[in-house]
Amino acid sequence: MSNLFPTYNRLDIELVSGEGTKVTDSNGRTYLDFIAGIAVCNLGHSPSAVKKAVEEQLDKLWHVSNLFQLSQQEEAAKLLADASGLDAVFFCNSGAEANEAAIKLAKKHTGKTKILTFKQSFHGRTFATMSATGQEKIHSGYGPLLPTFEYLPYNDVEALGDIEGDDIAGIMVEVIQGEGGVNPGTEAFLKKVEKTCKELDALLIIDEVQTGIGRTGVPFAYQHHSLHPDIVTAAKGLGSGFPVGAMIGRKELVSTFSPGTHGSTFGGNPLAMAAVKATLETIMNESFLSEVKSKSKTFIQSLKEKLEPLSLVQEVKGEGFMIGIQLEDEAKESIEVLRDNGLLTLPAGPKVIRLLPPLTVTEAELQEALTIVERVLHSQAAETAQ
Ligand SMILES: Cc1ncc(COP(=O)(O)O)c(C=O)c1O
Repeated sequence: MSNLFPTYNRLDIELVSGEGTKVTDSNGRTYLDFIAGIAVCNLGHSPSAVKKAVEEQLDKLWHVSNLFQLSQQEEAAKLLADASGLDAVFFCNSGAEANEAAIKLAKKHTGKTKILTFKQSFHGRTFATMSATGQEKIHSGYGPLLPTFEYLPYNDVEALGDIEGDDIAGIMVEVIQGEGGVNPGTEAFLKKVEKTCKELDALLIIDEVQTGIGRTGVPFAYQHHSLHPDIVTAAKGLGSGFPVGAMIGRKELVSTFSPGTHGSTFGGNPLAMAAVKATLETIMNESFLSEVKSKSKTFIQSLKEKLEPLSLVQEVKGEGFMIGIQLEDEAKESIEVLRDNGLLTLPAGPKVIRLLPPLTVTEAELQEALTIVERVLHSQAAETAQ
């Protein structure tokens, strides 16, 4: 018997090394990794700049508490503030913790009790973020949930028209729902969310845990829509695999989180900050991001051309390197066959094949992946047609 709780459906594969977009398993088989630790390894595996920064920090100091000055935290916060256009950062260790901080800050700042979220959203597995998540399967067995959250239909502008109440502290939204199926929010919907927040005097909280840190070709996905969030949360790609999360807020919110009102033992420790700084210095740069934009645009276009004519494919959707292939039926078997053909992908909901390659993926690797996806889905389409 394993000594682990079986909280994950694990594959019978152990990945033992990785470099760039390639990972190798314990049998010596190499795969193209279009999972990238679920949008974590944005700079690929073992990125040299991050490795060097963490190694240098390892030789100096691993951990001191937040009772002391930490210049690395100040420097990393400045990079996040510059990238987001916001002002202040709270560092923690995961996406769920970043959202926890956002929920607490919104309630404390406004003095109100409710937060609106959306159906099919995903915000984490802690009690508050699970309650914020608009998916029954995530709630199952854990009720009663926190009464803080109410769920609205995603991409439904009209549903936002009926909102009333002076008890709404904030609206928390993903610009593209990741776990919920790679569902891009429409411009009209996202603008309406922003407007509703203004009307209700509520905070706009954007969960960029999956979409952020360059994943969609801009620092944060809300920048595609010129939104002005009050709070943004990030994690996943932020430390290139080093566990770290961040909540970033507007300067008007700063004094709400006074000393002693929130905290984390590990949050923002020197090792994590070394990883964050090296990651952001590489990604938050015009030429890096414009390459991500152009590579991903061509890739999505090619996927659309090759796959959308197939009867088993509904559409190819997403932005940058956050891509979903929406199938007519279950995606599980296609994902298995892609893996047998050397390409690692993952589901997003039951019928979507999700592709999250490292942002550093090469043109040749994209071509290789395209060939595999095309071959596998074409042969599955031919089988189902028989
Ligand atoms: C949008 C979003 N928010 C929050 C989380 C939770 O992040 P973590 O697993 O780091 O707690 C995730 C994880 O998939 C996510 O995709």
